[in-house]
Amino acid sequence: TTYDDWARSDQYHNDHLLPHDAALEFALENSIKGGLRPISVSRAQGRLLNLLVKSLRARKIVEVGTLGGYAAIWMGKALPADGELTTIEISEETVKIARESIENAGLSGKIKVIHGAGVDVLPTLGPDESFDLAFLDADKESNLEYFKEAKRLVRKGGVIIVDNVVRNAEVADPADTSSGSEGVRRLLAHLKTDTSVEAVTTGTVGDKGYDGFLYAYKL
Ligand code: DHB
Ligand code: MG
Repeated sequence: TTYDDWARSDQYHNDHLLPHDAALEFALENSIKGGLRPISVSRAQGRLLNLLVKSLRARKIVEVGTLGGYAAIWMGKALPADGELTTIEISEETVKIARESIENAGLSGKIKVIHGAGVDVLPTLGPDESFDLAFLDADKESNLEYFKEAKRLVRKGGVIIVDNVVRNAEVADPADTSSGSEGVRRLLAHLKTDTSVEAVTTGTVGDKGYDGFLYAYKL
């Protein structure tokens, strides 16, 4: 089974389950046009985040790593009229691209893009336990810092999702000493003894290759 097969499999399922959405397709095209790397979540993962927002009846969401706004738009679409998503992006040029796509999606009233580093901006957000959902998808080196701040911000019964915790099984490979894998390992080592969340990694395969989300439920 090759990557092509998994991409075709994703396509097959998506054809049955996912509607075409002009605003989301615009966001992907606008990202490519702006020179961003094509590393946003897959369509299926975007829909999963969207359904999670609905399931949680989330009203306040925080995201680290806006990139082109693709995941933010998926989540923003599921927010109620008074919902708000705060998303943090370190690159000013990327912020511009994301804002265009969010505006195009008609979600500028609900999605606020903050330019800055997650480690600087997250501590300014609050109050504690006022968010329903956090999605962490920025540099992997700071995963543990992001996670600790997300845990402060998310309410009991809320959820923290961390992208890219499998990385083609490299995180579990002792021979891989990349800073990204090390960042994920520090988070996993922390979770081993963190009694304030229950968490699981779900490895996935699809049109983005082999990777996975960490899903943490705050007690
Ligand atoms: C990379 C980052 C991501 O968030 C992702 O989903 C895939 C790849 C990266 O930095 O290579
Ligand atoms: Mg990612």
